[in-house]
Amino acid sequence: MGNIQKICIIGGGNMGRAIAGGIAANPGSGMKNIIVTARTRETLGKIEALGPAVKTSQDNIGAAAGADLVIIAVKPWQTRDVLEEIRPVLDYGKCTVASVVAGISFSELKDMLHKDTGDGNDMPGLMRIIPNTAIALGMSTTFIAACGVQPEIYKEVEDIFGKMGEVVAVPEEMMPAGTALASCGIAYALKYLDAAIQGGTDIGFSREEARKIVINTMKGAIALLETGGTSPQEEIDKVTTPGGYTAKGLAAMEEYGFQEAVMQGLLKSMQR
Ligand SMILES: NC(=O)c1ccc[n+]([C@@H]2O[C@H](COP(=O)([O-])OP(=O)(O)OC[C@H]3O[C@@H](n4cnc5c(N)ncnc54)[C@H](OP(=O)(O)O)[C@@H]3O)[C@@H](O)[C@H]2O)c1
Repeated sequence: MGNIQKICIIGGGNMGRAIAGGIAANPGSGMKNIIVTARTRETLGKIEALGPAVKTSQDNIGAAAGADLVIIAVKPWQTRDVLEEIRPVLDYGKCTVASVVAGISFSELKDMLHKDTGDGNDMPGLMRIIPNTAIALGMSTTFIAACGVQPEIYKEVEDIFGKMGEVVAVPEEMMPAGTALASCGIAYALKYLDAAIQGGTDIGFSREEARKIVINTMKGAIALLETGGTSPQEEIDKVTTPGGYTAKGLAAMEEYGFQEAVMQGLLKSMQR
C-alpha cells in the first residue's frame, strides 16, 4: 500500500456510497483521503452519514485534482460529461481512472479521456470494475479488468475491492458475462426468491411466513453447497426420488421453461 493516497469517487449514489463505505470501514488500507461528489446536497448528506473519514463535494474538478484513483460511479449517459469535466485536472502520470459504469468499454473511456499532454502520458491507467449491490455488506462479487495500469496500482485496487467481497480478474471481453451473472444475477436470484414467496402465499402461508421460510430454505441450500463442496445437481439428486414429489415439481418447472428462462435472461443482459 502507499501509491494510492487520494481517492475521488465521482457519483455518490448507491454504488459510489457503498464503495466509499467499504473503503472507510477498512482504514487498514492506509488511505489518507477519500472524497465523494454528487450533484445534490441530499445525496451528499447520505455520504456524510458514513462518518468523517469520507469528505464530500459538489465540485468534481476540485475533488478529482491530485487524486491517485478516480472512481467513476455515475450513470452510463452521464459518464462522458463527467470525464470531459475532470480531464483537464487529472495528472495522467500518476492517476488511475476506474469506471464502475456498466457497458462502457476501455475504447470508449480512452476516447473520452484522451488528451495531448506533451509528456507522453496521453492516457491514465484505466480499470473497469463491476461490483454488485452486495458490496454494501462486504459480500460483492466484483469483476476487474485493467488497461495500462502499473502492477502495484492494480494490486492496491484489487486489495481495496477484495475487502468488499470476492474479486474476479477478467479480460475486458468477459465483463458483459460477469455483469450478467453476478451484477444482474443478484436480481435474478431475488426473482426466484420473490416467485417462491409469492407461490408460498398462494399455497396457504402468510407473506411474512413465506418470506421467512423461503429465505431460510435458500440459506440451507447454499450452506449445503458450501459445506459439502457439492454441485447443485448433486444436492438436488439427494432430495429427488424418481416419481416422488420433488421430481414431479422439478419436471413441471422444466416443462414451463425454467432453465431456458434463466439462460435467456443471462444472454439478454449481456446485450447492449
Ligand atoms: N447498482 C448496481 O448494482 C451496479 C452494479 C455495477 C455497476 N453499476 C454502475 O454504477 C453506476 C452508478 O449506479 P448507481 O446504482 O449507483 O446509480 P445512482 O444511485 O443513480 O448514482 C449515480 C450518482 O451519480 C451522481 N451524479 C450524476 N451526475 C453527476 C455529476 N455530473 N457529478 C457528480 N455526481 C453526479 C448522482 O448524484 P445526485 O444523486 O446528487 O443526482 C447520483 O448520486 C452505473 O453506471 C451503473 O452501471 C451499478
